Amino acid sequence: MSLSSQNITLYVASDHAGFPLKKILVEYLEKTRSSETFKVEDLGTVSEDKKCDYPDNAAEVGQKVTEETTGSEVKAGLLICGTGIGMSIAANKVAGVRCALCHDHYTAELSRQHNDANILAIGSRTTEPDVAKEILDTYLDSSFLGEYHSIRVKKIHQLEH
Ligand code: RB5
Repeated sequence: MSLSSQNITLYVASDHAGFPLKKILVEYLEKTRSSETFKVEDLGTVSEDKKCDYPDNAAEVGQKVTEETTGSEVKAGLLICGTGIGMSIAANKVAGVRCALCHDHYTAELSRQHNDANILAIGSRTTEPDVAKEILDTYLDSSFLGEYHSIRVKKIHQLEH
């Protein structure tokens, strides 16, 4: 099942470098997706001018995404920094997170189909806004394929212990 076909909250955050792209993508999501079953929660940062440390933003989203859910609610995340690299490295330190740094349609699709990524990372200095929108839509609309991929995903989390 795709993320977008479920009752989802998408937690979004960026650092100062990712702020301009975050603004574009949050507005895009509000315009194209906003509904009873698709909620966007913007956790900051709030400006391009004030520098901040991306591990703080990554940790906040990682913790939200891995919190216990009630009922059928699904949580996912979107993290944006200059390259997406720092955000993805930091988010993947939070137990239960599978953050994928994606650069195109193909990596976004496979991040869901094979890795069941629960956080998407994008680089604002490496990805044009129109490509970022396509990555985000593909990520939200693609489904985990399960089967032998589930065994591999389970093995990822065994590395946490
Ligand atoms: C900030 O200058 C930059 O280092 C950060 O946004 C990110 O690209 C780190 O990976």
